[in-house]
Amino acid sequence: MDKHKLLQEAQKQLSDNWTGEYTVAAPGLYPHHWGWDTPINALAYSYFNLDRAMQEMQHQLDAQWDNGFIPHIIFAPGETSYFPGPDFYQSKRSPDAPDHVETSGITQPPTQALGLYYIKRNSGARDVDNWVEPAYEQILHYHEHLMDVRDPEDSGALTIFHPWECMDDLPVWDEAIVAMNLEDKDIPDYERKDLAHIDDPIERPPDIFYDCYVYLIDQMRKKNYNFREIYEDHPFKFKDVAFTSIFYAANRYLKVVGETLSRDTSQIEDWQTLIRGNFEDNFKTDPNSQLYFSYDLINQHRVQKDTVVSLLPLFGKVIEQEQADYLIEKMRRFFMYNQEETLPMVPTTSDQTDEFAHQTYWRGPVWAMTTWFVYRGLVYYGEYHLADRIKHGFLELVDQSGFWEYYSPKTGEGHGIHDFAWTATIVIDMIEGSRY
Ligand code: DGY
Repeated sequence: MDKHKLLQEAQKQLSDNWTGEYTVAAPGLYPHHWGWDTPINALAYSYFNLDRAMQEMQHQLDAQWDNGFIPHIIFAPGETSYFPGPDFYQSKRSPDAPDHVETSGITQPPTQALGLYYIKRNSGARDVDNWVEPAYEQILHYHEHLMDVRDPEDSGALTIFHPWECMDDLPVWDEAIVAMNLEDKDIPDYERKDLAHIDDPIERPPDIFYDCYVYLIDQMRKKNYNFREIYEDHPFKFKDVAFTSIFYAANRYLKVVGETLSRDTSQIEDWQTLIRGNFEDNFKTDPNSQLYFSYDLINQHRVQKDTVVSLLPLFGKVIEQEQADYLIEKMRRFFMYNQEETLPMVPTTSDQTDEFAHQTYWRGPVWAMTTWFVYRGLVYYGEYHLADRIKHGFLELVDQSGFWEYYSPKTGEGHGIHDFAWTATIVIDMIEGSRY
């Protein structure tokens, strides 16, 4: 593998998706500016184009709602090839939504502080504090909002209201979706557009899941995106291990930036103490189980399915070294190997589960960012050798197949959509980034 060439191709991919203001997630299937991708794109840009890194983040921060909420999509004006678009979300029903732009009304895991940290860190001799200071305040406001409306019980675990707020068709949500028992009259009229952009419908969630996705948005818009009210009786609520772990990681980075700006970071420290102190109780079914599982608040149980979200506490660096060692040991049962049987890959859903499907979205395929979360998590806990092998396994996949949305861990082939910005982003950080 020629890493230099791969790096150049990844930079070119991001530039091809750059509109002049922001990076399109993938032309066709995802033609807008997407939530948790954006700050990691900015992280990647910070290695080679600092101005673009700041623009990428700023375009998202400009769409922040007055209450601190950051939406998962900022819609490109006039772009109609994606459903659900602004007409469906109707997010302006909320008095907090911005006037100048159309956005969705759900969020995604809060990666913003990572983008912020890397822009500051990679700015070298250039003084970027004029940009960093207000961005820091906005991200802090978003974190306050999340603690306020996504953890009103002060449990130390954040709640998601929609599968799209984490990983769309992860098997973890299956039972909760079935238990909703939706009837035709519950589901607003809609037409899917995603299937027109991909080769094989097996690569996307089935209609029964889509019915639930639109139903949940309908429930939220009926409450005018008043998140406090939504919390009271929303039919889908998970205390999510991935969302919470990423929030914890984000706070670690935000705190460092806050300190360099001489801010009082005690509020962030209080959140971290709360999250860390309750993490084992929140996400472990019994103290001896080594995997962490999300908790279904509606059906009141922890969903014990082996998926990549169980590994995200490593990325959060939220667990003790001893717990991490157990988790890393257990994690080996997740691995699948490349064609030469030499390099490990981390599927999104374990091939030991009944739900494993090697070409289907989050139900098996290897994704760039989940691989990156695990890779970084291993580095944080000092497992450098394993981290390197996972990194090489992933870079080989991209080198052989190109910048796909995800890859089959069985065949190595790319699936979903091509020209996927986030895959290029992760390649850039894996090649450029050193260890932290
Ligand atoms: C989609 O439309 O598939 C997205 O994952 C929602 O953000």
